Amino acid sequence: MSELVQRAEEVAQNAYAPYSKYLVGAVVRTTDGREFVGTNVENAAYPLSQCAEKTAIGAAATAGCRPGDIAAVGITASPCGGCRQWLYEWRVPEVFYRRADGSIATASAADLLPDTWELPTE
Ligand code: THU
Repeated sequence: MSELVQRAEEVAQNAYAPYSKYLVGAVVRTTDGREFVGTNVENAAYPLSQCAEKTAIGAAATAGCRPGDIAAVGITASPCGGCRQWLYEWRVPEVFYRRADGSIATASAADLLPDTWELPTE
């Protein structure tokens, strides 16, 4: 859904990325129609920086959302490996992101992280 990616591109303008200068935006759309947004938030201690997807999913979680409540996520770029694990945790059925060539990709979180590790259950 290109509309969700376009919305993420608007949101990316608020990214705090003084070190990489790479602005990332993410938009979470819930099954009941709510929207939560996030950007990357960097830190002078680089590894402490936060990805846009985690910011947006964190906002949804803080509002009470739980895995299964997210219908779709739009992102300005292909999600990194760690964010794929987050998208999988939240069982996101549809992820839309802008590829480097400008096209829009559509995939489920499970597609993006095949043969996924999960916490063993007893
Ligand atoms: N970044 C994200 O926000 N999401 C991703 O999935 C990939 C990378 C951010 C982290 C850092 O602030 C910048 O992009 C450059 O790596």
